Amino acid sequence: MVDLVAGRVPKKRLKHMLRVETLAVRLARFWGVSEEKASVASLLHDIARDEPESFLLELVKDTDDPLVREMAETFAPVVLHAPVGALIARRDFGVDDPEILRAIALHTTGAPHMDRLAMIVFLADYCESGRHFAGVEEVRSVLFSSLETAMLRALEQTLLYLRQNSRPIDRHTLDAMAAFARLAAEDSQRLHQG
Ligand SMILES: [Fe+2]
Ligand SMILES: [Fe+2]
Repeated sequence: MVDLVAGRVPKKRLKHMLRVETLAVRLARFWGVSEEKASVASLLHDIARDEPESFLLELVKDTDDPLVREMAETFAPVVLHAPVGALIARRDFGVDDPEILRAIALHTTGAPHMDRLAMIVFLADYCESGRHFAGVEEVRSVLFSSLETAMLRALEQTLLYLRQNSRPIDRHTLDAMAAFARLAAEDSQRLHQG
């Protein structure tokens, strides 16, 4: 699969996806998620990232996939590569596992209802070893204690960044933020009750 992916994305993107895979597989092992699913989702998550917007819109136009259709209504164009990545994973790589496809589709925005695989791919994308922005350590430090808290921190930072830079904010990210504020609070209660 790495060879197939390598033929379709720039080298820099492939390296990023391999770093995401390394962290995602570690997290999957720790959190009891299929390492194989984490690997496949990671290696394909940015398969559409370097395609022109016209190509992405063309693919979206003909799909009957409800999640892709719904996500394609975004007014933040950069988000599109995630649901379209899921389409390409299915069409060109034969991936039909709904959890993998959903993890790919949600890796940029997050969403209120994410299973562990989707959280792991989102967080591995955010924290892979090539990321060096302010705040990344804050997320890394909780990856192995609470995925929900890590999601909350990552979403808070993302929203702050988007607002400070006057960038469009996708509704899924806002909905995810509200959901993970609650989920992280519940999880910290669980941790404190032992
Ligand atoms: Fe991406
Ligand atoms: Fe990525």
